[in-house]
Amino acid sequence: MILSIESSCDDSSIAITRLSDKKLLFHRKISQEEEHSVYGGVVPELAARLHAVALPKILEETKHFFKELKAVAVTNEPGLAVSLVEGVVMAKALCVSLSLPLLPINHLKGHIYSLFLEQPTKFPMDILLVSGGHTEVLHVKDYDKIEILATTLDDSFGESFDKVAKMLGLGYPGGPIVERYAKDGDSSRFKFTIPLHNSPKLAFSYSGLKNQVRLEIEKQQNLDEKTKSDICASFQKTAVEHLMQKLKKAYKNTSIKNFGVVGGASANLYLREKLEKFCLEKHTSLHMAPLKYCSDNAAMIGRCGVDAYKLGKFINIGKIEIYPKSKEFIKV
Ligand code: KG4
Ligand code: ZN
Repeated sequence: MILSIESSCDDSSIAITRLSDKKLLFHRKISQEEEHSVYGGVVPELAARLHAVALPKILEETKHFFKELKAVAVTNEPGLAVSLVEGVVMAKALCVSLSLPLLPINHLKGHIYSLFLEQPTKFPMDILLVSGGHTEVLHVKDYDKIEILATTLDDSFGESFDKVAKMLGLGYPGGPIVERYAKDGDSSRFKFTIPLHNSPKLAFSYSGLKNQVRLEIEKQQNLDEKTKSDICASFQKTAVEHLMQKLKKAYKNTSIKNFGVVGGASANLYLREKLEKFCLEKHTSLHMAPLKYCSDNAAMIGRCGVDAYKLGKFINIGKIEIYPKSKEFIKV
């Protein structure tokens, strides 16, 4: 079995995954959303302190698996440095005390493997990764070969939901709240411009859209619940339309073998609906992670760890480093 640890942002999570059949045997996650919501976003120093309390608490529940462990997998990039450190230090201590090898795991690769928690691995696959820190279109050939086809020039897709929610005073994390408000809203009331609409660039940009929303909020005399819903619906429609326009551009003349969507924001049902239509038109199958594994979790890190173990991706505990920015993928 593999014990995996995830602490890259504001979720403390540990999982146990069986190597022989990749089965998830244990998974627990303690989210810090409530603690950060008063600040309207993640406070790194607070996140680190909360990980230091939550991780040992979860680890306690996994003790009966210790004798059967073959390795420890831990997220070491990308993420908040002070948060990553908490998981990595715990992983190192476990490796020393239980004489186990260490597997460093890229968090974004972990998100990709969330697709294979309940279905077999399928490569090559094209992936849309939408989270709080990333908006990327990836071509994944295998564990080691991942090309970035498009990325964001500024804010990420999930981050723009968080910022809109903050501006409307709706709380944190913004994604699920904005989606909920948007459900009852009129998406045609506010006409936001689709970012990079006329640009040939294969890239994303969300900071301009966020500013359009800010200006619209400032114009409102009465920011009642109906107006908030209409702003959320109009924003969500534009944010998703931007994604869809660039995806259509990226794959205009190419067929897609398999298409997957991952990351915390892939839980957005409006986005899922649009992707379903896109994949139907492209005659490709759409792969989506179960909703409970979209946001950060150690189950996906453990599943990725199984492949890392089989490929022998071990690192000396004295050599593991923390990379706040992903160093692994290749830009094409
Ligand atoms: O993958 P994740 O849990 O953490 C990072 O790796 O960043 O993603 C969290 C992000 C947050 O920005 C959150 O607001 C967004 O995903 N998110 C959503 C939804 N659920 C979570 N964004 C849009 N719609 C949602 N339903
Ligand atoms: Zn994530």
